[in-house]
Amino acid sequence: MAANYHNSAWFYDRLARLVYGRALINTQLYLLHYIEPGSNVLIVGGGTGWILEELTKIHSSGLRITYVEVAEAMMALSQKRETGSNRVVYINNAVENVDLAPDFDVVITPFLFDNFTEQTFQTVFTHIHHLLKPDGLWLNADFQLTGKWWQQLLLKSMFIFFKAICGIEARKLPGIESYFAANNYQVISEKTFFGDFIMAKVYRK
Ligand SMILES: C[S@@+](CC[C@H](N)C(=O)[O-])C[C@H]1O[C@@H](n2cnc3c(N)ncnc32)[C@H](O)[C@@H]1O
Repeated sequence: MAANYHNSAWFYDRLARLVYGRALINTQLYLLHYIEPGSNVLIVGGGTGWILEELTKIHSSGLRITYVEVAEAMMALSQKRETGSNRVVYINNAVENVDLAPDFDVVITPFLFDNFTEQTFQTVFTHIHHLLKPDGLWLNADFQLTGKWWQQLLLKSMFIFFKAICGIEARKLPGIESYFAANNYQVISEKTFFGDFIMAKVYRK
């Protein structure tokens, strides 16, 4: 089952900003700079869509963007975003249910996987993996636990909160790194944010 954030759309960005300051934004800005002009880009789980405006500030034209978001209210907000002269296709569905041509130069999964059960993660990962071209870039941002006590506390609080508001099922982070490794992805760049609790990684297929 998809982790649908429909009910949280109206306050999601404000809450994220309150808890994390600019960390979630800076994490994604770091990743967006790896996108080459003219790329065919898949964005999965872009939330309210501010990432479209940030991407447009870097490339105001020439990109082909497929924007897949399962939450209806998130999609409604995303469709109002400024996207310059880029070509954007919006798909309001769970990515694993969408049949797309496997020719993306870049896929972006910003804080998508952390609320998935291991089983959903495997399904979604495998689906996206087949959509990315050989040598394509996979830009992933997610939470990670590096042994600091407050990370576990913050993660648990998020799971409890989003279970109550949005019915999110996850109780722990899925094994994200091991999947990229098992599928022979190469990490070409990485950076951590917010006391190592957040990691951004650029993988090459
Ligand atoms: C934790 S939020 C992150 C939102 C945004 N990336 C950000 O950083 O502000 C995850 C988003 O992924 C969407 N989502 C979850 N499962 C999905 C799926 N299977 N396909 C597409 N979108 C999905 C949710 O509706 C939600 O908007």
